[in-house]
Amino acid sequence: MTPQNDCFLRALKREHTDFTPVWLMRQAGRYLPEYCATRAQAGSFMGLAQNPDYATEVTLQPIDRYGIDAAILFSDILTVPDAMGLGLSFVAGEGPVFAHPVQDEAAVAALAVPEIEEKLGYVTAAVRSIRRALNNRVPLIGFSGSPFTLACYMIEGRGSRDFRTAKTMMFRRPDLFSRVLDVNAEAVAAYLNAQIAAGAQAVQIFDTWGGMLADGDFQRFSLAATKKVVERLTRTTPEGERVPVIVFTKGGGEWLSAIADCGCDAVGLDWTTNLTRARRELGDRVAIQGNMDPLALFGDEETIRREVRRVLDAFGPVGKGGHVFNLGHGINQFTPVENVQILVDEVHSYSRRFHTAD
Ligand code: CP3
Repeated sequence: MTPQNDCFLRALKREHTDFTPVWLMRQAGRYLPEYCATRAQAGSFMGLAQNPDYATEVTLQPIDRYGIDAAILFSDILTVPDAMGLGLSFVAGEGPVFAHPVQDEAAVAALAVPEIEEKLGYVTAAVRSIRRALNNRVPLIGFSGSPFTLACYMIEGRGSRDFRTAKTMMFRRPDLFSRVLDVNAEAVAAYLNAQIAAGAQAVQIFDTWGGMLADGDFQRFSLAATKKVVERLTRTTPEGERVPVIVFTKGGGEWLSAIADCGCDAVGLDWTTNLTRARRELGDRVAIQGNMDPLALFGDEETIRREVRRVLDAFGPVGKGGHVFNLGHGINQFTPVENVQILVDEVHSYSRRFHTAD
């Protein structure tokens, strides 16, 4: 069924809209007091993510508060390696940690695509529950990490500045590294297809760490694996609507054309990329998502409005293109809550001039 507000899906399909739709990466998170209250009830991040009622509640919080144009499933990219048996926990002050990282030949050989319904049934249950609660107000985005970004965490065992352990395997044993990517590509495709079957109306692949690769290595390792995922996706909902695919590569500004060629409908940009130049390079063959600096939300009201307008001006008249407004990366946990409303309102009002009838 078409959502009442289908602006986000139409922009991804490069169809006419009256204004530019907006959502924010990590829009359900710790900057929202109501999120912190629900998280306290749940006891932990995984307690939230694994309980479909809590996951539904926090997914809807930014929609109810701000009038954002799309909801994103509340979960985490690291649920997939957790389902592979790596033992995910979030340690306060340290971020995500795996009890069983994949660091030798035996561990790589033992890796397998998890049984999605058995191991990640809480995610598909959350998707169904969120769709019911949204009642077609706005579309629901499903997501996954890219095979490469997941491999970084799986091999390193935790977050890192340079992912030295993971890159050591990539350079010393590219055969092992490629096998991890192959398993991940299959797992991610199965996981996203399960989200689509459960009701996700668009999907985003987060390649958070692809941008730390050298030119050549990015294409060979990260992008090739993302392409395998995209090729395997079911591109229609159970009701027969197209499911747009967004690929977001942080630090991917150097490779926009190559990313657009992976078969996706939209390319997500971080804030370091010049949006005018990106559009010139990509033409209107894909939609573009982005790309305000998340920390611009720490400016005063006038600054936030100016930064929003700068992004919309940089994209320019939408014409036959498609623009989805977003931040260039996830919203910072210390963002003042009222500033997000300023951003959403400014996007909705100022963007109208760029959506003329022709
Ligand atoms: O966008 C949304 O609102 C949907 C939910 C979402 C979360 N994580 C919830 C979350 C999404 C899309 C993600 C993606 C994710 N998770 C990425 C890719 C995007 C990016 O930001 O680059 C990555 C790299 C992760 C891994 C991860 N999960 C990290 C590094 C952390 C932070 C750990 C910490 O303690 O700071 C998480 C935890 C996490 N995932 C939180 C949220 C809201 C915060 C944890 C909490 O509430 O305690």
